[in-house]
Order: sequence, then C-alpha cells, then structure tokens
Amino acid sequence: MIKFIKVLNTEDLPIGKSAIVLVGDQEIAVFNYKKEYFAVANKCPHKGGPLGEGRVQEGIVVCPNHEWRFELKTGNSMQNPEMKCGVYPVRVKDEKIYVGFDQNKKKIYGKEASALPASLKFKIPTIQKPINPEEEL
Ligand code: FES
Repeated sequence: MIKFIKVLNTEDLPIGKSAIVLVGDQEIAVFNYKKEYFAVANKCPHKGGPLGEGRVQEGIVVCPNHEWRFELKTGNSMQNPEMKCGVYPVRVKDEKIYVGFDQNKKKIYGKEASALPASLKFKIPTIQKPINPEEEL
C-alpha cells in the first residue's frame, strides 16, 4: 500500500530549486523542475553522492560528485542502462508536496536503485567527464 507523506509546501520549493528532506531514515531529494515536482533518493548509485545538490539540465539531475546523470522522471542513468537511482511518486495538493512510500516494503515505491556489484558498474564506460579532470571516477 502506498502512503503519501507531506514533505514540503510548494512555496518552499521555487522553480529550479531542490530540497533534501528526511523521511524516516531515508533522505529524499525533491526538485521543482519547470513547475513539475520530482523526488529521487538522495543517494547516487555510483558512490552515494547527494543528488539533491546536483544541478538539473533538461530533466536530468547531474550528481555533484562525478557528474553521473539520472533522469528525474524515471531514475534511469544516462550513461549506464543497467543503473538507475531510486524514484518516488509525487503528488501536489493544496500547495503541499507529497511523496509516496510503499508501506509494506518499507522502502521506495517505483523504480529502485540498482544493486549491481560495483565491479560490474564500472565496466561500462562513462561518457561524461568530471569537472576536475584530476578526479578519479
Ligand atoms: S557519487 Fe554520483 S557520480 Fe559518483
């Protein structure tokens, strides 16, 4: 059963902004992208970077750590089709933003972050370059 929990008021999240909220023990990154709200797990599947601190370009959040990219709507990685970040359903009612959780599973509803072993993840080349070329991926 999906339970929607209020996480923010819409006035707290202007267009182009993101916020990180804590629900239970889960950090959720909530975005207002062109008046549409999205929620993803605030944990990059690469090395746990805070996706809520990443910039958004064309509906894609760019992880601030190594620039891996995930579509806000689906969580799909732009670089690795095997990987995705967790996404949550979002509803807006009476100027309040709600995020949905699956109570039975006690974890995110919808797509879940990939659990591929790290060794497998890194066999697929990354297209995007980090901002700092000295930084290791
Ligand atoms: S932690 Fe997100 S790209 Fe590395």
